[in-house]
Amino acid sequence: MENFIYDVPTRVYFGKDQELKVGEIIKEYGGRKVLIHYGGGSAVRSGLIGRVEECLKAEGIEYVLLGGVQPNPEIKMVRKGIELCQKEGVDFILAVGGGSVMDSAKDIANGVANPEVDVWDFSMGKAQPKKTLPKGCILTLAAAGSEMSNSCVITDEETGTKRGYGSPMNRMNFAIENPELTYTVDAYQTACGAVDIAMHTMERYFCPGEDTYLTDAIAEAVMKCTIKAGMDCIKEPENYAARANMAWASSLAHNGLTQCGRQFQLVVHQLEHEVSGMYPKVAHGAGLAALWCSWARYVYQANVPRFLQWAQNVWDVAIDFEHPEKTVLKAIDLQEEYYRKIGMPTRLSELGVKEADLETLAFRCSREKTRTLIGYKPLAYEDVLAVFRMAL
Ligand code: NZQ
Ligand code: ZN
Repeated sequence: MENFIYDVPTRVYFGKDQELKVGEIIKEYGGRKVLIHYGGGSAVRSGLIGRVEECLKAEGIEYVLLGGVQPNPEIKMVRKGIELCQKEGVDFILAVGGGSVMDSAKDIANGVANPEVDVWDFSMGKAQPKKTLPKGCILTLAAAGSEMSNSCVITDEETGTKRGYGSPMNRMNFAIENPELTYTVDAYQTACGAVDIAMHTMERYFCPGEDTYLTDAIAEAVMKCTIKAGMDCIKEPENYAARANMAWASSLAHNGLTQCGRQFQLVVHQLEHEVSGMYPKVAHGAGLAALWCSWARYVYQANVPRFLQWAQNVWDVAIDFEHPEKTVLKAIDLQEEYYRKIGMPTRLSELGVKEADLETLAFRCSREKTRTLIGYKPLAYEDVLAVFRMAL
């Protein structure tokens, strides 16, 4: 078991009507002028933004609105948000939406608090935010886990470069999670969410690490619950229990809990970010589904026992001790079948990715052939390209 620090300072308000407390909560954090940041309109259409405005007015809190965040959020919007906050004297950022809105809000908070730095330098690893503005979120989509994560993923739309950076400054002060607010998420985005949530934990589970029995058991539970809850949410969008379990899994899968004692790198995520960076219409979860099974088939021989543990404990596959590799491949097939059942792609070509772009994707992912991704089987440029080819 590796040494670790577990520090997750986000306060979670979970359950029905919790969003109605947003004014009181922001007041507690000292917010006097708030940026309400949201996406392409779902939160306006549902009446949520209107309810948030009423809650702030009731507490005498001023606010400005900035909507229009796109899925795979862009640095252009972040810059617009920073300028607005500076002009209006905003001292608190409230994200109302999914991962894209939350990440845009995090980057704005970091940009406003560190005006001497070009905000894109945080994404490129050239600078780290030293301060940030207080911020919170109202979750409308269980998927990215940004509500409790220390990560922020932004795209430079001009170059198609999508980069995530981790920092303690990226933690939300609070996350409001009312599962009812996710009822209107359509089947496709719900499925993308189910893929992404389980993947945040699955990727940690398949990172090098020994003797993490407790972390493993928590991770396996998160994966199994997400498989079930994802399916239930798609069949019955207003199933409160299923939506609630999805939302809580979203937060736990990516807040650090399921990496305690293990090494950490989200390898398939690194591959996927290149795909949705170059093809911005690709939803992150769909990109992950199209890649994961090919990655697993490429690397499993480097640690068959680990894949067997997963096959047995997550997919209930009985181990064939004479042919353990068959057991592993069967479980990977089950994972693939699940993706198809929930309407997810299992090949990159289904997402419109062109063969001619694979080398560029691998080149970028390997940071121009200078980076090797960690794992049981480390992935250098040629390996990344091989996985992209298998997944096409
Ligand atoms: O923009 P609106 O109109 O709100 O519609 C959104 C959007 O079109 C819609 N939606 C959200 N809540 C809804 C709803 N539609 C109906 N009813 C609701 N209640 O869903 C669409 C997708 O939203 P988006 O925020 O893009 O999805 P998601 O939460 O999956 O976030 C994806 C982004 O997060 C990044 C991804 O790379 C991607 O850019 N990630 C962020 C992470 C982090 N910060 O920790 C970790 C992840 O691994 C991921 O990389
Ligand atoms: Zn993800």
